[in-house]
Amino acid sequence: MIELLVPSPPADPNPLALKAMKPSGLRQTLVEAYGSMRLDWRRGRQIQGQALREARHLGSSERRFAGDLLTFLVRHHRTIVTLVEQAGLSESATTKQLNLVRVLAALLLRGGGRPIDGPEFDYQAVTDPVHTLTGWARGRERAEILGVCASLPQWLADELALRDDAPELAGALNQRAPLVLRSNRAEVPTIEGTRPTEYAARGLVLEKRIDVNALPELRDGRLEVMDEGSQLVAEICMPQPGERILDLCAGALGKSLALAALAEDQAPITAFDVRRDAIRRGLKRAQRCGFRSIRPGNPKGGYDLVLIDAPCTGTGALRRRPWSRWSMTAREAAAFPKQQLEIAMRGAEHLKPGGRLIYATCSIRSSENGGVVDALRATRSDLSLVPLGEVIGADWAERIGADGVLTLEPHRHGTDGFYAAVLRRDG
Ligand SMILES: C[S@@+](CC[C@H](N)C(=O)[O-])C[C@H]1O[C@@H](n2cnc3c(N)ncnc32)[C@H](O)[C@@H]1O
Repeated sequence: MIELLVPSPPADPNPLALKAMKPSGLRQTLVEAYGSMRLDWRRGRQIQGQALREARHLGSSERRFAGDLLTFLVRHHRTIVTLVEQAGLSESATTKQLNLVRVLAALLLRGGGRPIDGPEFDYQAVTDPVHTLTGWARGRERAEILGVCASLPQWLADELALRDDAPELAGALNQRAPLVLRSNRAEVPTIEGTRPTEYAARGLVLEKRIDVNALPELRDGRLEVMDEGSQLVAEICMPQPGERILDLCAGALGKSLALAALAEDQAPITAFDVRRDAIRRGLKRAQRCGFRSIRPGNPKGGYDLVLIDAPCTGTGALRRRPWSRWSMTAREAAAFPKQQLEIAMRGAEHLKPGGRLIYATCSIRSSENGGVVDALRATRSDLSLVPLGEVIGADWAERIGADGVLTLEPHRHGTDGFYAAVLRRDG
């Protein structure tokens, strides 16, 4: 398990990592940004963005390197903290010293050489992490080993450790996610440096780093950025022209736009979210795409299709939001199923007889997925689960589903982790 999860230094040194091992503007940016993030993980993404924008003394490759290193440090934070502890950094070390040594540890793991300054520590304990952590793991529980080696908060590691494939899943959640585009038209444009998505019908995966915002197809609304898992949730909704659709947790309209595209802008979509500002942002995107079928508003009357893209822990999307694991407490995570059930029950009230409700999350926790669907069905006996095979065909359902529901996992599908169940109200 440890070999699968722990990042080891590359064979060749990395010139920028070497540079940042020494006192320099690059290193200062890294240490300051890391120190600020630790104080407020919730704002991790903004802090990183701001630190890089303000680092005008850095060239573009240094800036890119700094962004990658900070993301790496966040992703592997718990592993790095433990390695530094094992490296014997004195217990009396100040916060400033700890911040510096953890940044140096991340640099060592990214191909930096031996530190030339800073507090004393056994840097070889960091450069051979598998050896160090194998020693540390002796006599410890699987869940704790998973939590440290996969760098997960313990509440999540405790749940994942129950799965046989926990190391593969946790390892995949710590990989960089590819950038994926979705075509608003059935015809997917050909774009150099991209390949079609494996499962989603209208997706393109970027194979190398390019400035997507410069793509004319993205500017004029022919393309949108959207993970393949999200695209598949919209696909299994099977929206048809003429249907009344409710997107009850519409956010910035990511799914609404995908539904509008699939229904050829011919199905009126009511988009609701408690965050009005997100809807407003989404409406600008809808305008750019030329869609007229999406209207913000409160749900009214019965709908043929109700999509609940529920607020969740986002544990399936850790690849994209590595900070989130450190900002969420066990208590906050435990509160989601109750909230999700309340929203799903509200959505069910707006279903026409014969209408379908799609309950989806980007969580990998069964309590937020099947647990909520079971509880919903226990209170609404007029709702029945439509097996995914009936919705998209048995062969296809076998590839992207399990137990009759959409089940996408990064280690098996290369997408973010997603769950979606289709329920029908008796007609
Ligand atoms: C997973 S996000 C939705 C993402 C969006 N559907 C998309 O594809 O971009 C969940 C959303 O649920 C919203 N939300 C939270 N509580 C809600 C409630 N009681 N009713 C409706 N929406 C809610 C959040 O504001 C958040 O935007």
